[in-house]
Amino acid sequence: MSSYRVHFNLRPHQLAAYEAETRFECRVWHRRAGKTFHTMGRMLARALQTGRSDWQGFYLAPTRVQAKNIAWSYLTRWVRPLGVQPNESELKVVLPNGAKIQLLGGEQYDSLRGLYMDDVTLDEAALIPSAAWTQVISPALADRKGRATFMGTPMGRMNLLFDMWEECGLGEDPEFSRSLLTYQDTNILDPKEIARMRRTMIEAEFNQELLCSWDAAMPGSYWGRAMAKADAEGRVTSVKYDHQLPVYVALDLGISQGAMPCVYFQLAGTEIRIIDHETFEGTSIPDLVKHWQKKPYPIATVLLPHDRKVRELGTGKTREETFRSLGCTVRAVPDVGLDEGISQVERAIPNMWFDRDNTKMLREAMVAFRSEYDEVKRVHRLTPVHDWARHIADAVRYMVVGRPGTSFQKQNRNTRASSRDHSRYGGLVA
Ligand SMILES: Nc1ncnc2c1ncn2[C@@H]1O[C@H](COP(=O)(O)OP(=O)(O)O)[C@@H](O)[C@H]1O
Ligand SMILES: [Mg+2]
Repeated sequence: MSSYRVHFNLRPHQLAAYEAETRFECRVWHRRAGKTFHTMGRMLARALQTGRSDWQGFYLAPTRVQAKNIAWSYLTRWVRPLGVQPNESELKVVLPNGAKIQLLGGEQYDSLRGLYMDDVTLDEAALIPSAAWTQVISPALADRKGRATFMGTPMGRMNLLFDMWEECGLGEDPEFSRSLLTYQDTNILDPKEIARMRRTMIEAEFNQELLCSWDAAMPGSYWGRAMAKADAEGRVTSVKYDHQLPVYVALDLGISQGAMPCVYFQLAGTEIRIIDHETFEGTSIPDLVKHWQKKPYPIATVLLPHDRKVRELGTGKTREETFRSLGCTVRAVPDVGLDEGISQVERAIPNMWFDRDNTKMLREAMVAFRSEYDEVKRVHRLTPVHDWARHIADAVRYMVVGRPGTSFQKQNRNTRASSRDHSRYGGLVA
């Protein structure tokens, strides 16, 4: 048992959560309720109390930058008086008893493969891909019966936070618990501040951030509303390969070793049927094509965006030439600009059908794809957030813009859209 101590004065709702803790927890508390403070503090307390020198705790935020901005300052402030030197480049601390705590971004979840974990927190879990949990973190807890906490404010229902909210509320297993606290439940925010936020936030944002509403439209999400409708209309269902129709694949080539999402789809009349999605990390084009050859359906055409002309250093060939030399039929995606592409997808979603099992991560990404938020001016900027969801959303954009049958006429190529006002683009897509 360690003799090092850190003192926290917990607020009543934090204390109640501390006393009722279970192995798996979902905490949906309003913004500024003290989720990050409490959970980081509790992880540190567990790390200091453990008798195991190989104890490992991990904290994940949607991006590494967020992990650093949100939790690193708490952790470093608390461990410095213990004589611990935080490792800033790895966002890691090693405590005097050998226990380690590391902070990561959701986009780095693959780097956790094969590790074991004693404790993990997924903060703002609505923006972390659920594959991080199902494929990597959940198995990593198994050998040492590690703990997991999911927290955040809601962002609709198509994400990890909502999945875990449901799972933790089934009430069948005492290892699972959940709590939802609105600003009225904790009473910690000054009424004047509440009144100010009511004035400055749009209603959906206030309902989401302070009342923890699952129904609020997601502020900043480009396609969240259309995706919620797709779900409500039953277009997330079993969508299987139809052998009478060709399969297309749209991909975001990414920069050299980056994430390379592939969206597999078929077209039937006006319907876009998305039958599968896969994202590859650091896979070469020949390996990708080999992988496609093993799939249960033939790939008829590969849709490639503008960077198909980039020459690969090793071969001197363009990416397009490489695909062609490997026997692929290539179709060029016209460069219509980002705004126009985002609009085209928004208008195409009512015609999209999604395979429930194979497109989970793709659907999460389409909801999480959002504009950057300026904390100071309290407005959404025009640029999208650059995270895991962005890469997948790019491939979806290429699917819509480049799919056969679209009549984005040549003469429109140069009229780059400058706003997302729908009336300006009406009628450009067949
Ligand atoms: N028990 C506590 N004692 C002192 N300050 C706290 C406590 N809990 C939270 N805070 C402070 O309240 C603010 C919001 O906490 P934070 O954990 O970031 O909220 P959330 O993650 O729920 O948005 C931060 O400034 C944090 O330092
Ligand atoms: Mg927080």
